[in-house]
Amino acid sequence: VKQGCPPALVHLEDALDDLRRRQLFRERPAPHPSPWTTFCSNDYLALAGRRGPSAAAGATASRLVVGEHSEHLALERSAADLVGQPAALVFTSGYAANVGLLPALAGPDDRIVADALNHASLIDGARLSRARIVRVPHLDLTAVDRALAEPFSGRSVVVTESYFSMDADQPDLPALRAICDAHGAALVVDEAHALGVLGPEGRGLCAAAGVRADAVMGTFGKAFGAAGAFVAGCDALTTWLWNRARTFVFSTGISPALAAAAHAGLAAAAAEPERRERTLQAAGELRDGLQRLGVRPTGFGHIVPWLVGEASDALRLANALRERGVEVRPIRPPSVAEGTARLRFTVTAAHDPIEIERAIAVIGRLLREMAP
Ligand SMILES: Cc1ncc(COP(=O)(O)O)c(C=O)c1O
Repeated sequence: VKQGCPPALVHLEDALDDLRRRQLFRERPAPHPSPWTTFCSNDYLALAGRRGPSAAAGATASRLVVGEHSEHLALERSAADLVGQPAALVFTSGYAANVGLLPALAGPDDRIVADALNHASLIDGARLSRARIVRVPHLDLTAVDRALAEPFSGRSVVVTESYFSMDADQPDLPALRAICDAHGAALVVDEAHALGVLGPEGRGLCAAAGVRADAVMGTFGKAFGAAGAFVAGCDALTTWLWNRARTFVFSTGISPALAAAAHAGLAAAAAEPERRERTLQAAGELRDGLQRLGVRPTGFGHIVPWLVGEASDALRLANALRERGVEVRPIRPPSVAEGTARLRFTVTAAHDPIEIERAIAVIGRLLREMAP
């Protein structure tokens, strides 16, 4: 028995050793701020380092009980306006939002048609709903149409991300909306990585496509530099979630101080469009630089994935880059499918052109050193 591990948990030591052997073990990163040039943060607009406004630290209870604060309501109004929906409800995280939302929309008699690469929170939400889950190949609209055409007596909900965080690609939202309408299905869109950066004024890819989803999820933990999340839609949806989303009902309301910080993040993103512009420009500089080195990053926008293949190769490249002062996360199974491990660069408004150039030079030198 290893020190500190109670007998009933010794098997965890073996499981950890197994992760290490398979190059899937996650090291704990150094505490912030990182000594490296990092390409792993979701602080896309470089807003997270700002001091938040002061407000009560705790909500004291679930919002259904006595946890309701004016900061919650103000944040919900702004979030709904951001995505052009009538109403929004704030959750403590995007994970909690998705895990609360899907079981509130679909039950055991219903079906959820889900993109195969949906985020873990959408997968877990779908599983918790106990609805029939139909996983369709990534971005495959024909498969969505086929799944919805199967005779079914319950309700159907189609769930997708608007900007997939591991591949930096997007579904054809107008076509997806049309398919949902043709079959009477609801459309749920997770805009976690798009909001704040992509779409007109950073209002996301539904806005860019002119599509109204039936439920939109957005998080304050990425571009808006805080934490917490929201689901937006019609009044009936948010009222239903207030009553029935278990991660909302049975959880302490989000800290009012955090709600105020998230609100300030939304306001700063709107008032300082140059942040968004710089993020996208920096991403373009990185994509161009990688192309010049013969690396073909996939997708578009501020997430720049470099597909490597094997988890061990992704880890080796990430370690070598870190030794040279550039920090980028190797993304390995189970976050992505076996054989599709990658380096995933996320670009933020804090990356200046010199920093990007320096990172490209480091990558170039490493590739030359590693060339056979
Ligand atoms: C697509 C997607 N949805 C939801 C989440 C969860 O959001 P949060 O970090 O606010 O829990 C994430 C990332 O964390 C995500 O990438």
